[in-house]
Amino acid sequence: MRNITLVGFMGTGKTTVGRILAKRLGYRFIDVDGEIEREQGVSISHIFSELGETYFRMLERDFIKALSFREGLVISAGGGAVIDERNIQSMKLGGVVICLTASPDVIMKRVGNSSNRPLLKAPDPMSRIIELMGAREQFYRKADFTVDTTAMTPEDVAEEIIRLTAGKI
Ligand code: S3P
Repeated sequence: MRNITLVGFMGTGKTTVGRILAKRLGYRFIDVDGEIEREQGVSISHIFSELGETYFRMLERDFIKALSFREGLVISAGGGAVIDERNIQSMKLGGVVICLTASPDVIMKRVGNSSNRPLLKAPDPMSRIIELMGAREQFYRKADFTVDTTAMTPEDVAEEIIRLTAGKI
């Protein structure tokens, strides 16, 4: 059983959809950020502010690599994981990569005021979302499939991913 890794911008539903998808497939769900927080014993915001983003990206990279040697997982990767080519390689080695997208408006509604999204702690979070999304578009395009979640329920997104990956996992 090959893994399914969900990538995409913050607030596109990777964790919510990932849980539903794993249950439907009988796979194990792994949230990369959640596991890093559990292993380190501190929040992602704390890691960013006290140890720095570079340190966080190293933890993220090591963890994603380790997951590529395991099977039967639905993995939710953090929104910035795709920027490092090595992460995409690990994800593809382990299975299929699905990118979830959503409009900036919807993302703003879902996570604009979240206290656990250090990269959105800006005077104008909406501009930050648009800027970051634009800069990352080229990386998100490397996924095997893309699903626009803007007008979909998490259940429908999970269903669509099952359809897209049939015969590939
Ligand atoms: C990040 C997204 C976050 C988390 C960290 C950095 C990013 O994950 O990994 O705050 O660079 O987009 P989510 O996409 O799960 O919010």
